[in-house]
Amino acid sequence: MAKKIIVVGASSGIGKEIATQLIAEGHKVALFARREKELKNLLGSVSSAKTGQVFTFKHDVTQYSQVPSVFAKAIKSLGGLDEIYYSSGVMHRIEPNEFSIEKDLEMLEVNLLGCVAWLDLAAKFFQDQKSGKIVGISSIAGDRGRRSNPVYNASKAGMTTYLEALRNRLAVKGIQVVTVRPGMIETPMTEGLSGLFWVITAKEAASTILQKVNSGKEDFYVPARWALVSLIIRSIPSFIFRRLSI
Ligand SMILES: NC(=O)c1ccc[n+]([C@@H]2O[C@H](COP(=O)([O-])OP(=O)(O)OC[C@H]3O[C@@H](n4cnc5c(N)ncnc54)[C@H](OP(=O)(O)O)[C@@H]3O)[C@@H](O)[C@H]2O)c1
Repeated sequence: MAKKIIVVGASSGIGKEIATQLIAEGHKVALFARREKELKNLLGSVSSAKTGQVFTFKHDVTQYSQVPSVFAKAIKSLGGLDEIYYSSGVMHRIEPNEFSIEKDLEMLEVNLLGCVAWLDLAAKFFQDQKSGKIVGISSIAGDRGRRSNPVYNASKAGMTTYLEALRNRLAVKGIQVVTVRPGMIETPMTEGLSGLFWVITAKEAASTILQKVNSGKEDFYVPARWALVSLIIRSIPSFIFRRLSI
């Protein structure tokens, strides 16, 4: 059955692939991002997309006060809402001796505050409706405070904890809240980064995410082998961890 779905951060990478696959499956989808042209291009690239099935909205998630009105517009266009995916994210490059409040604030605003602005609204909507599904694309980076990018790590730790808390609040009401923790995925965010390994494409990541969300999984790594890496990383004592260049 065709579902009514919002994807925030659908103009590139993982969000774009999730949106593409949802459209191809015949669902009604509302797409959000700042680059509306990219959203329209995506729509044109799915040959099976039908008129009246996909809606695009130019939106900056850091404009928190605009979220309630665009959320309402999307629900009106879709004729309801069954699921929401939050995939907007920023990971600035941070030099070893750099501390940049501008870069750090943007990562907190997009990765964490924008997520709260959107998913609080979705939580309230689904609570009243007594059904729905919330999916947040967090990261394995939130599992430990690493020296390379302190605020990216912190924004993802905040997002992971927020999603867990939403899940604990809403599970009794029959609402599924999903935390996705990708490892390394080939997208514009990771372009040009050195030292990547076990990299999979955004298309592969999206199909794994959709398959796991549909099978009822609540918190998982993409691909699954990153769960083992996380277990090891989380078990290293702090005084050893700080000596490692990871
Ligand atoms: N790639 C990886 O290896 C990896 C690993 C773990 C987790 N993740 C997470 O996965 C999510 C998707 O990342 P990706 O790799 O697919 O990166 P990406 O290709 O760079 O996509 C980022 C998306 O976020 C949107 N975005 C950024 N700033 C925004 C803003 N102010 N308002 C609205 N949307 C905004 C972008 O849209 P516009 O620029 O058009 O607004 C774009 O659609 C992120 O949360 C990222 O942290 C990625």
